[in-house]
Amino acid sequence: MIKLREEESEFMSKLLIEGGHTLSGVINVSGAKNSIVAIIPASILAEQEAVIENVPNISDTNDLISILNLLGVDSTFTDNTLKINNSNLKNILIPAELSTKLRASYYFMGALLAKYRHAELYYPGGCNIGARPIDIHLKSFEKMGVQVTFLDDKYILDAKELNGADIDLRFPSVGATINIMLAACKASGITRISNAAMEPEIVNVADFLNSMGAKITGAGTKEIVITGVNKFHNGNIKIIPDRIEAGTYLLAGALIGKDLVINNLNPNHLEALISKLEASGVKMQIDSDKITVSSSKNLIPINVKTLVYPGFVTDLGQPMQVFLARCNGVSLFEETIYENRMQHIKYLQKMGAKIKMDNNNIALIKGPCHLHGTSVTATDLRAGATLVLAALIAKGITKIDGVKHILRGYDSLPIKLKKVGAKIKIVE
Ligand code: EPZ
Repeated sequence: MIKLREEESEFMSKLLIEGGHTLSGVINVSGAKNSIVAIIPASILAEQEAVIENVPNISDTNDLISILNLLGVDSTFTDNTLKINNSNLKNILIPAELSTKLRASYYFMGALLAKYRHAELYYPGGCNIGARPIDIHLKSFEKMGVQVTFLDDKYILDAKELNGADIDLRFPSVGATINIMLAACKASGITRISNAAMEPEIVNVADFLNSMGAKITGAGTKEIVITGVNKFHNGNIKIIPDRIEAGTYLLAGALIGKDLVINNLNPNHLEALISKLEASGVKMQIDSDKITVSSSKNLIPINVKTLVYPGFVTDLGQPMQVFLARCNGVSLFEETIYENRMQHIKYLQKMGAKIKMDNNNIALIKGPCHLHGTSVTATDLRAGATLVLAALIAKGITKIDGVKHILRGYDSLPIKLKKVGAKIKIVE
């Protein structure tokens, strides 16, 4: 086997995985991607310095640090701790090649509005799992007095006055909830967000803003109240464990683990997944910060429907389908959050999965299937994770193209899996 490269870079474009090797030992979960991608833009609000711990070393983190540096922010990122200094911060246009790399660049809208009452940003990027409009964000900013114009693919947001407002979200959008919090924390007056998203990452962002002097209550519930303040001071936060990474490895253990320990997680953030796995007959030892899991035969088929938090999270919907393909019978899977999050299905079918699509969002999955290795392509971040899980249980070797998608959201995935017995390597 070619020696696994310790260094991963997005130029390494293929993963090779030989399936059938039992996973045993400890996998340490990193900090949450969907927290850090909001907390880095939020950090420009610190008076001067911010210290952010348990930061995942993923390409999204590094892309956002590049944007910070472009805005004149000094930063050091060592041993998963990111330290920033805003003394030379300037509000300049973020170039398209940076802001289109990831959807979360849109959090600079809320942060720059709070700091400067003005923001210019190209349309954000991100996984192609649907249209992913930002109408809820923009309508909410307009309610706060922001004038929004769209010119040459660029949003220009201008607020003579940035005022608190009562905002009732038509859909509990995670991104919009966070973006409104960012803009509102230094607006004049009080902002009330109704029908707010309740994901744990929103609580992490609110805790960070409050550490800098913001006045936010209700984060993690449907009603969030933000009282605008004039001045921020320095701040610090520890990023919460990545529940999606943890859930992905929990599924790997349920598929082919033996006493596999998923360490550094918060089981309360995984309730929907845990109850589905238990209903299917998976035995788990659940502790306050880790779960020990082993694969079992005779898995009972179950129905899974993705919902907003605390329902079954859409980001684990795709990986869950590999588990459903191992159950003894037909399981029904329905994706309700995105309209195009099934692009991986054709590759699972190519590996031998018996999946029938009812419409673009409903899959009937018949198991137990016996997957075989072949060449497949990661079309988006979680599709990539799904194909990794499939490859770990497939007979023979699977080649996965599009590794850069996977490295966006899984810190050191090949190294973490190799450490617990997977036969995996990155090749050019
Ligand atoms: C966040 O995306 C996550 N990304 C997504 O994770 C996650 O799937 C999603 O929340 C739902 O949990 C980050 O946090 C960076 P939304 P976000 O706004 O904020 C529609 C991953 O794999 N919508 O809650 O974009 C939207 O099109 C990624 O880590 C509007 O119509 O999610 C989608 O159908 C993928 N208008 C639905 O709402 C808007 O203005 C959910 O979007 C905003 C959203």
